[in-house]
Amino acid sequence: MIERTLVLIKPDGVERALIGQIITRFENAGLKIVGMKMKWVDKEFSRKHYAAHVDKPFYKSLEAFIISGPVVAMVLEGIDAVEIVRKMVGPTEPKAAQPGTIRGDYAHHSYGYADKKGIAIKNLIHATGTKEEAKQEIALWFSKEELHSYATVHEKHTL
Ligand code: CDP
Ligand code: MG
Repeated sequence: MIERTLVLIKPDGVERALIGQIITRFENAGLKIVGMKMKWVDKEFSRKHYAAHVDKPFYKSLEAFIISGPVVAMVLEGIDAVEIVRKMVGPTEPKAAQPGTIRGDYAHHSYGYADKKGIAIKNLIHATGTKEEAKQEIALWFSKEELHSYATVHEKHTL
């Protein structure tokens, strides 16, 4: 089914000027950008976005990372978009991510290095994990007016 999913280009991706290359990958796969913005997240917003992780041991370093600079947030639309985007992004640890995934091609950070330094894994992207989370995360980041349907374009040009 046609779904929507939330993607963030995290502060490391923005700082490394990878915004264009990352967006191009999603567009090349036929996913449609139906909303996009740049936002500098604060601690309160981080706690909302990462509500599931707030009590985890890595949260403090994750929060420091996500508030360290602006992020680019976008909502992508396409067939099974949640699953497809996660596949394109790759697993959490860039060291373990296969070449061909965004994390595997553009990063190489490891759990070992991050833990030793007391910092979060710099892995360029946040991508929603499940369809249920997609609804909550999109609602947190975007108002209805900021999202634009491409259903007609899909049928005409992509599918
Ligand atoms: O982003 P993803 O869904 O792949 O991973 P997660 O388990 O939901 O964790 C969210 C983010 O926290 C990761 O993307 C990492 O940036 C960070 N993290 C970390 O720094 N150290 C860990 N042991 C686990 C996660
Ligand atoms: Mg996650």
